[in-house]
Amino acid sequence: MSKLSIVAYTVGSLFFLVSCSFSIFYGYKVVTHHLPKEDSAVKKYNYHFVLVAEELDNEYWRLVDEGARAAAKKYDVLLEYAGPKQANLEDHLKTIEMSAAAKVDGIMTQGLSDDQFSPLINKVVAKGIPVITVDTDAANSRRQAYIGTDNYYSGFLAGKALIKDTKGKANVAIITGSFTKNHQIQRVRGFKDAVQFEKGIHIIALEESEISRVIAAEKANQIMQEHPEVNAFFGTSALDGIEIAHVVEKYKKQNQIYIIGFDTLPETIKYIRQGTIKATVVQEPYEMGYGAVEMMINIIEGKRVDPIVHTNTRIARLEDLPAVGMGGRK
Ligand code: BGC
Repeated sequence: MSKLSIVAYTVGSLFFLVSCSFSIFYGYKVVTHHLPKEDSAVKKYNYHFVLVAEELDNEYWRLVDEGARAAAKKYDVLLEYAGPKQANLEDHLKTIEMSAAAKVDGIMTQGLSDDQFSPLINKVVAKGIPVITVDTDAANSRRQAYIGTDNYYSGFLAGKALIKDTKGKANVAIITGSFTKNHQIQRVRGFKDAVQFEKGIHIIALEESEISRVIAAEKANQIMQEHPEVNAFFGTSALDGIEIAHVVEKYKKQNQIYIIGFDTLPETIKYIRQGTIKATVVQEPYEMGYGAVEMMINIIEGKRVDPIVHTNTRIARLEDLPAVGMGGRK
């Protein structure tokens, strides 16, 4: 081999080696660029909680979940949002049972009835899984704590607001989410107690919507047909007031009929702005979710928690709307 070819081979091999090293180095950088160490490893959480909602697709429950999720993020908790897509007692109970079988660290759910929820809650607690009731309490169960509205008081406030706004004269029809669920029973009872000594207030109908929009509308329609004397409605769960407003507008009776509803969902706010819904009972679902996660952590860590935490509840009318954010993210 000539001297010249030896030099040429040596330079060529060196060049080959250098370019190989560069491609390995940069190739590695490209592959690893989007995989920072933390992401490639399985994330470790401090706890695993489940929030079982009455109705997953309900905007009210989405706010509870939003609050719970914010706290879960802060405290590194893995949070699952589970339950029936549309209110269904059997699915609700089954979801609690399955969460307990999965040995989660804590369950947050409603205590909808003493006969069905309390025995199950007691069984879960006996297994060593803490339970917090949210939104609706099963006060006679062994749940560790409750966070949510004082449901009797919120109904009482609605009654007082109706007396004030109708100057103590009204034929009232009530559409309630349920005849058998604790929170709905308490809201109706609070309302009845508030109006009981008012000579001019008459409760002329009491119907059940089963937490369903369609049934709430059907019941409102039926009341309009059967009770031409009706001039006020009270809807005791988030979708009832909205559907009452819908039906009352259909009859073009929004100027003659007073409506008080529950919650501050976007549609409720829309009907208040239109003047169809005159007042609503504000709840704080976001705070319920956020607070429930914090309370659950404290319970697990052996810290003292108040067994009953009542979130704020108040009446809102058109003039109060600038304070919206009501019930949602602060
Ligand atoms: C109640 C919830 C219920 C929802 C139904 C709210 O007023 O607090 O428990 O699931 O209405 O739309």
